[in-house]
Amino acid sequence: MRTIRLYPRPLVNFIVICVTLLVNSMAVLGINRRPNIVLILTDDLDVSIGGMIPLNKTKKLIGEAGISFTNTFVASPLCCPSRASILTGKYPHNHHVINNTLEGNCSSLAWQKSQEASTFPVLLQHHAGYQTFFAGKYLNEYGATEAGGVEHVPPGWDYWFALERNSKYYNYTLSVNGKAQKHGQNYSEDYLTDVLANRSIDFLQYKSNYRPFFMMISTPAPTPLDRRPAVRGPLCRHQSAPEPQLQRARQGQTLANKTS
Ligand SMILES: *[C@@H]1O[C@H](CO)[C@@H](O)[C@H](O)[C@H]1NC(C)=O
Ligand SMILES: *[C@@H]1O[C@H](CO)[C@@H](O)[C@H](O)[C@H]1NC(C)=O
Ligand SMILES: *[C@@H]1O[C@H](CO)[C@@H](O)[C@H](O)[C@H]1NC(C)=O
Ligand SMILES: *[C@@H]1O[C@H](CO)[C@@H](O)[C@H](O)[C@H]1NC(C)=O
Ligand SMILES: *[C@@H]1O[C@H](CO)[C@@H](O)[C@H](O)[C@H]1NC(C)=O
Ligand SMILES: *[C@@H]1O[C@H](CO)[C@@H](O)[C@H](O)[C@H]1NC(C)=O
Repeated sequence: MRTIRLYPRPLVNFIVICVTLLVNSMAVLGINRRPNIVLILTDDLDVSIGGMIPLNKTKKLIGEAGISFTNTFVASPLCCPSRASILTGKYPHNHHVINNTLEGNCSSLAWQKSQEASTFPVLLQHHAGYQTFFAGKYLNEYGATEAGGVEHVPPGWDYWFALERNSKYYNYTLSVNGKAQKHGQNYSEDYLTDVLANRSIDFLQYKSNYRPFFMMISTPAPTPLDRRPAVRGPLCRHQSAPEPQLQRARQGQTLANKTS
């Protein structure tokens, strides 16, 4: 089998929460104003593996105040191909990111040359006058030396705080507008989810009020990575997904990987 068309929900490894904030009531009145956009991309937020357990507040503040999509489809259940689809609006067979490795075009030089210059943030920035902000996990292999390292800042982003490579909460490197910033494991300085939140709040303070903005905040959370209590901070009472469900979800990924 070459392609899988429909993916059962347990295979979907992240969901997207999109919140459109209307600048003011003029937008409601239908006057032509460009809305501010906040896109929050999470990782492993999957009901069947318990991903919603640590996100009670999120559910209350965003989910219950908005819309839940109970029947959702993605172009690929694999992390990097799916992220590339979000950025380009294309199916994997058109953007050519086929797995989570550089050889599979995840953040590869070929991706940078052929796709990255036409992602939607580029369009928002160049053609719609948006200020653009990115914080968090980009494509799984982002920052690899073979792909330009963390000095590579993809086009389309005015402010760039991207995690080098794949999900981590501690002991990671961020690309801060192309400069490496190393983090250790002190909760109050380094816990990634809070660093992303703090940088996002900073952006809201220093952005211009005269242009619309687009923010993409891409958390590795709530993906279960580190179960050692010592590194669990007060905001991270991380209840990991039950192991059997996790295993099943990961086997699902491997299966999809082999067949796509
Ligand atoms: C989440 O909410 C449920 C139902 O209100 C509650 O039973 C549970 O303890 C909460 N979990 C956390 C982590 O706060
Ligand atoms: C990677 O992307 C390039 C450019 O689109 C394409 O030519 C190449 O075949 C892709 N590699 C794989 C393994 O699909
Ligand atoms: C990813 O795709 C490349 C190109 O087809 C292949 O060489 C590599 O083995 C794949 N890696 C995995 C982990 O599937
Ligand atoms: C972070 O790095 C330190 C020093 O190498 C190590 O002792 C610690 O276990 C690491 N913490 C995590 C969460 O990986
Ligand atoms: C962690 O960072 C805080 C704030 O900078 C500091 O007060 C504290 O001493 C640090 N803890 C450790 C163990 O280094
Ligand atoms: C985030 O900001 C708050 C408030 O300034 C601070 O207490 C906290 O230590 C910061 N966390 C990180 C990880 O930077």
